[in-house]
Amino acid sequence: MTDATAAAITDIRFKGKSEGLTGTCVLLVPQGGALSERGKQLDSASGGYVSKAMQASGYKGARKAVLELLTPPGTELDRLLLVGCGEGAATETAMHWTEIGGVIGGTLTARKVKSATVIGELAGGAFDPAAAADIGYGLLLRRYTFTKYKTGRTAVEETPSDDKPGNGEPTRLDVTVETRSHRDADTAFAPRRALATGIMMARDLVNEPANALGPVEFAERARALTAVGVEVEVFDAGQLEAMKMHALLAVAQGSVRPARLVVMQWNGAGNARTKPIAFVGKGVVFDTGGISMKPAKGMEDMKGDMAGAACVTGLMHALAARKAKVNAVGIIGIVENMPSGNAMRPGDIIGSMAGRTIEVLNTDAEGRLVLADALHYVQERFKPKAIVDLATLTGAIMVALGKEHAGLFSNNDRLAGWLREAGEATGERVWRMPMDPAYDRELDSKNADIKNIGGAYAGAITAAHFLKRFVGDVPWAHLDIAGVAMASNRSEINESWASGFGIRLLDRLVVEHYEG
Ligand code: BES
Ligand code: MN
Ligand code: ZN
Repeated sequence: MTDATAAAITDIRFKGKSEGLTGTCVLLVPQGGALSERGKQLDSASGGYVSKAMQASGYKGARKAVLELLTPPGTELDRLLLVGCGEGAATETAMHWTEIGGVIGGTLTARKVKSATVIGELAGGAFDPAAAADIGYGLLLRRYTFTKYKTGRTAVEETPSDDKPGNGEPTRLDVTVETRSHRDADTAFAPRRALATGIMMARDLVNEPANALGPVEFAERARALTAVGVEVEVFDAGQLEAMKMHALLAVAQGSVRPARLVVMQWNGAGNARTKPIAFVGKGVVFDTGGISMKPAKGMEDMKGDMAGAACVTGLMHALAARKAKVNAVGIIGIVENMPSGNAMRPGDIIGSMAGRTIEVLNTDAEGRLVLADALHYVQERFKPKAIVDLATLTGAIMVALGKEHAGLFSNNDRLAGWLREAGEATGERVWRMPMDPAYDRELDSKNADIKNIGGAYAGAITAAHFLKRFVGDVPWAHLDIAGVAMASNRSEINESWASGFGIRLLDRLVVEHYEG
């Protein structure tokens, strides 16, 4: 069984103007409904059918609105899809065209179209290559589904029907996007394809159930990044013991499946001595809560408690595959949090690589234990320029921010500002939360150096302060992605349970501030 990612079933090509349009075509219509040259040609060839249909349905090209015209007379077309594209060309952002690509991908998929041409023309002329590439990018992301376990053999025998989407294999789709320069569009599409592949890799990891993806299996998927030139090291439980990663190992000790720590390095800066930017991810393949066990309702979602680690893995893939001119290191701590006769207990006092002792008052506050060791390790070994960690760390961040923003915590205003801007540009938005010694004091422990939970309130903030105690002076940001990485709001570019959140955001951060 292989992962049926969109990449395998979607072919995107770019070309100049097509002669003789046939099959399914997409016509981009700017706000207000003015038709482009070829829109007008189709309209007159069809005896005004296009404009009459627009009029009859009140269609004026509102952003993302779709109007489907079947077999327009006087043309060779089976179907003409009008897609509202806002202001049109130059004034629109990359995010806009990416979303339009998503709308097109969703529309074609819902109609089970197998091949289509996007007429690359706006009122202002031929279509910009970067915008064409963004359309391809969004289309690819929207096409992602996780169907590898759907065999089509459902319990009740259903009458096969061509009108219903099948249960098994998703359908193939070939899309040609016309553009002013197909060469430039190909060049622009390459890094976007690299990102899309990384994002889909992360979505696959998060969607995968925990029985199939334990720490060992996750580490093997990360090891596969060697194929794109990432240096990958996998540390097993014995090695982690020797490294004194007692906090990470304490979480893993209740599970029969042993912990792993994976270090991924991409050295694209051209100078191996350039200090790297570091990404650290929480990789709890399943979080039962341990002895402080979670209630049954919704616990299945905890298969996604490794979304931070999945993001780091997908990001490292993307950076390497697009040959980013940056030195980056990705570190993921991978464990399973289970109750058992060997599990850590509330009240246990454990060690950590930093030498600090931790009083564990709730075994469900496990992500911070994993990150404490990973954060200490990355600083000691790599002396990074900056660290960004990602974790599905607290339910409290969802209480605070819902599913619209990830929680951002940082000891550095400049880094926080950069992340905020990258979030606005990519749509992966972050909202900065306060940090303050008053919150930090809640972590003081009677019996050890620190305890792993704060008081009843501000749970996301005290969690961030726990991490901060394991971070030195290095610029650091923590992203609490519990509300945005899984079971998140579906969007034009994601229909899947797992969003792959963070890869577009952090790639953008690298492009803007750490590359070249
Ligand atoms: N993995 C959870 C946080 C979480 C909850 C992520 C819901 C996604 C959806 C984390 O390990 C956890 O259990 N946090 C506790 C911390 C508490 C015990 C201090 C929480 O948020 O309740
Ligand atoms: Mn937990
Ligand atoms: Zn957790």
